[in-house]
Amino acid sequence: GLVNTREMFKRAVAGGYAIPAFNFNTMEQMQAIVQAAVETKSPVIMQVSKGARNYANGTILRNLAKGAVEYAKELGCEHPEIVLHLDHGDTFELCKDCIDNGFSSVMIDGSSLPYEENVALAKKVVEYAHQFDVTVEAELGVLAGVEDEVVAAESHYTKPEEVIDFATRTGCDSLAISIGTSHGAHKFTPEQCTLVNGVLVPPPLAFDVLAEIEKKLPGFPIVLHGSSSVPMEEVNTINKYGGHLEAAIGIPEDQLRQAAKSAVCKINIDSDSRLAMTAAIRKHLAEHPGDFDPRQYLKPARENMKKMYIHKIVNVLGSDGKL
Ligand code: G3H
Ligand code: 13P
Ligand code: ZN
Repeated sequence: GLVNTREMFKRAVAGGYAIPAFNFNTMEQMQAIVQAAVETKSPVIMQVSKGARNYANGTILRNLAKGAVEYAKELGCEHPEIVLHLDHGDTFELCKDCIDNGFSSVMIDGSSLPYEENVALAKKVVEYAHQFDVTVEAELGVLAGVEDEVVAAESHYTKPEEVIDFATRTGCDSLAISIGTSHGAHKFTPEQCTLVNGVLVPPPLAFDVLAEIEKKLPGFPIVLHGSSSVPMEEVNTINKYGGHLEAAIGIPEDQLRQAAKSAVCKINIDSDSRLAMTAAIRKHLAEHPGDFDPRQYLKPARENMKKMYIHKIVNVLGSDGKL
């Protein structure tokens, strides 16, 4: 069945790689994730956001994830390691509902709350979750939003002086931190970037803050949200075939590669999957205007996502061959 994150994080921290955490909302994403994980022999975290539950229905997504384990076995993987994780749970009730309904891991995101409230909420979720051997991710520090004036403002970063108190008092199994990543396909404005050989290079992640955190909590599992790279190739394809994405800039993959070697053992990627899917669908429909069977364009979309997932696993996170 599904597994929690405990053992896989321990191995990932020790081995200097990170487990991919891919969001999914559709059957095609689930299939592509499982195919990629099986072909690369990688453990994988399949995560469901509140928005995903609203879109697809929680019962359907949960059963897709349970089906994913059987599907992996059908594809020839004897012992798949698949986690079903709630992404950005915002209340105890939502976390409890997922724990009661077969999730093997949950995130309680109290990062926007005052410190003491974040501690109290995370602790409550941990106490409930651990009775059922469900692991809990909590968050400290606020990720910059697209709408923020100062993206990656230092004041948003996780404060290293808080992490020991937070991890000890909450009992959380992993900690999501803020060191300059953010959600979505527009993580930086062009003005924040430097032009190097015709490519806009965003400011680097705050590896000094990460190092401070690691010093306080040696070997403790650290999570990075907002880690899509926003591949230029996919953005260009989308724009070539009728889309209009401006200033789409993500986290350079070498930064993620570097992070994966540290105690960062879970890297969240959602936007890159959306871009891969949309690029393939736009291209297919532009080249085959007569097609109207969803299978005709969802098949290349699934293939393109799978290619992206494999690339992340093998060339960025290094979780291949770790089953
Ligand atoms: O954290 C954000 C994830 O990419 C999920 O996004 O809330 O639109 O499903 P969503
Ligand atoms: P991206 O938007 O960078 O893919 O981040 C996804 C994420 O953090 C999900 O929790
Ligand atoms: Zn996130």
